[in-house]
Amino acid sequence: MRRLAEAGIPARIVDAREEAERAIAREITELVRKKPDLVLGLPTGKTPIGVYRELALLHRAGRLDFSRVRTFNLDEYLGLGAEHGAAFARAMREMLFDHVNVSPGNIHLLNGLVGPERAAAHCRDFERAIAAAGGIDLLLLGIGRNGHIAFNEPGSSRDSRTRVVELDETTRTDAAAIFGGIEHVPKRAITMGVATILDAKRIRVLAFGAAKAEAVKRTLALAVGPDAPATFLRGHPGLAAYFDADASALLARSS
Ligand code: GLP
Repeated sequence: MRRLAEAGIPARIVDAREEAERAIAREITELVRKKPDLVLGLPTGKTPIGVYRELALLHRAGRLDFSRVRTFNLDEYLGLGAEHGAAFARAMREMLFDHVNVSPGNIHLLNGLVGPERAAAHCRDFERAIAAAGGIDLLLLGIGRNGHIAFNEPGSSRDSRTRVVELDETTRTDAAAIFGGIEHVPKRAITMGVATILDAKRIRVLAFGAAKAEAVKRTLALAVGPDAPATFLRGHPGLAAYFDADASALLARSS
């Protein structure tokens, strides 16, 4: 593992993504040992799959007890029920919840079917539930190709909170395959805000593969601001980033 000191955020460049996935799963296991009711912030997408696989393995090996762990998911498409094939609620079950002994009452998901009249209250309730849990201890994060975090698209402010957002065309294009065409991708979503994310005590951001190289470069090189919301992560005291060689390729050349 190589460390990128000049990057402005503590970035670790791993030879293989499995190295990062194991390191984060081990860290979560250690934290749960010290605090059995640890509070996790959890993303979907392809990026965290390996971390979830490692967590399931550690659980099966009897080394990780999820029974008191509390989870808050980052986001959800608006208009999708939890059973929809592309719903993040369903992805979380398939990737993690079905494979560990998490208690259903400890899982907090944003409801994609919340109606417009209830949406604001639902977002406030979600923020209150995070606060009532004592805040998020460790939040796992991927980066969108356009530099978004969760569904905080370009234009999102540093102080944004959980809310309904319009999805960017890049984001909808990237999701087209799973929906069977861009015309089926929802235009709106519900997401934790940038401030909600930055309130987490530890943030572990992951990016793997050449498709993320531009986003990683933007995250580290652009001025901190809403053009690439991932830039807001810079300076977070509990941040560690893990990139593989392909995702950090443009950095290596520019630094
Ligand atoms: C979606 C999610 C993000 C995720 C991003 C990257 O937009 N809302 O939370 O980080 O996609 O997805 P992937 O990991 O599949 O590249």
